[in-house]
Amino acid sequence: MPAAPLPGRASDDQVRAAPLDGSDTHGTRWLLPAEASSVRVAPELAVAQLRCWGFYLDGATAQNLRQIVSEITTNAVLYGEGQLVALTLAARHEEVFLETMDSSTVQPVSRDAADEDENGRGLFIVRTLALAWGIHNTPHGKGVWATVGLPPQPRDYHRRELLMRLVRASRPRPQIHVHQTVA
Ligand SMILES: Nc1ncnc2c1ncn2[C@@H]1O[C@H](COP(=O)(O)OP(=O)(O)OP(=O)(O)O)[C@@H](O)[C@H]1O
Ligand SMILES: [Mg+2]
Repeated sequence: MPAAPLPGRASDDQVRAAPLDGSDTHGTRWLLPAEASSVRVAPELAVAQLRCWGFYLDGATAQNLRQIVSEITTNAVLYGEGQLVALTLAARHEEVFLETMDSSTVQPVSRDAADEDENGRGLFIVRTLALAWGIHNTPHGKGVWATVGLPPQPRDYHRRELLMRLVRASRPRPQIHVHQTVA
């Protein structure tokens, strides 16, 4: 019998369980090898991509995002049973959606970790830091997802960031002249 789905904290968990549900303004997905290196790379990818899209992240939010991605990626690599892990990142102006999908249909079991417990803390940390979280079953495995609130975005920050990026990209690059001395 399949394990009961784990509850998230928000009432609209089921709705948000569908990644890239159309209300997101930005979204992307990476396929990462199910290896330890992905555990280091995935958190940095997520934070860098959000900043690249022009979202303002304060230090605490960036740290929470990194930690959640690190925990769910570690679990997908350790328990996922496949060669690849898919990391999905989607964002609206006030919320970020993160999900790792793996190839195992085994459902994670979240525990209330005690201080002295060395293991069993990953999903507890996710539950503590996320606005909501849950499990999304797929035909070939499952996704473990979490949402994180973004700090208030400074007025026009998003637009200004994109404009600055365009300006920087369109600036003429310095010409490099190579002088060759002919003997
Ligand atoms: N993606 C997954 N697929 C299958 N089982 C999972 C997955 N993620 C977690 N689990 C199961 O749920 C348990 C709890 O996961 P959790 O991340 O909370 O703790 P842990 O991985 O055992 O230890 P820690 O994260 O503290 O190193 C795991 O021991 C594992 O049995
Ligand atoms: Mg874990």
